[in-house]
Amino acid sequence: MLIDPDHFRERMTPERRERFFASGRADIGWQVDLLRRHYGPFHPRTAIDFGCGVGRLTCPIADIATERVYGVDVASGMREEARRNVPAHVEIVAEIPDVQVDWINSLIVFQHIHPANGVPLLARLLQALAPGGALTLHVGAFKARGAMTMGGVGMDFVSWDGDGLRTLIETPPGSGMMMMYDYDLNQVMALLYTNGIERFTVQHLDHGGHHGACSLAGRRTAEAEGRSRLGGRCCAACLATLTCPAR
Ligand SMILES: C[S@@+](CC[C@H](N)C(=O)[O-])C[C@H]1O[C@@H](n2cnc3c(N)ncnc32)[C@H](O)[C@@H]1O
Repeated sequence: MLIDPDHFRERMTPERRERFFASGRADIGWQVDLLRRHYGPFHPRTAIDFGCGVGRLTCPIADIATERVYGVDVASGMREEARRNVPAHVEIVAEIPDVQVDWINSLIVFQHIHPANGVPLLARLLQALAPGGALTLHVGAFKARGAMTMGGVGMDFVSWDGDGLRTLIETPPGSGMMMMYDYDLNQVMALLYTNGIERFTVQHLDHGGHHGACSLAGRRTAEAEGRSRLGGRCCAACLATLTCPAR
């Protein structure tokens, strides 16, 4: 996993660089394959890669979305390095742009953002998805026991109230380390739904004991948004939302 842009430059040999960017092409290829299998033809012209890092995923996204791609990253070092790597139709920015795009991607990012910050960011991000657009989103969901600390970093002292663990003392991540947060999937689903995404696919991922979900979703069209105003029915005559052939 890529952590520090300085390490990226220092440690990169041409072979490592090729392997690194090949892993991005493979990850995006996999996501696009899942999207096509579940949602049919996929020809986005515009995209946002949220948490783009140095552009590992942004480059293959830009090969597909050839009109305009925005790579968003909070870290200036990442943005600087990304600008060296991406093609001309990619704009690297610090904040989610005020645009509507056909595809929003964010992989291996939200798990590093505390949910208190990540949930409002996700809500903002989803508003940038155009009707009919697709989402490839990765969020952490739960952990195996051995992954509750990351190499000694994380929860030093916890309390257990019979229901949940609460961190009492936490070692802040040192340079080059990132925390791994889990999201409430009910909350993520509610966010997807309120942003017009009523059908999505959850793909389980195991990131060394950090288990995550990859939700692949097509945004509702204007027609489907009309349906939701019928109180959950798919058409005025129908009471069965799941079985009506009009859906
Ligand atoms: C592990 S890297 C993954 C980069 C890229 N998605 C990939 O798979 O190669 C996580 C990236 O998310 C960025 N990031 C973390 N918090 C962010 C935030 N609040 N807004 C935008 N980017 C953020 C970090 O700066 C870092 O570049």
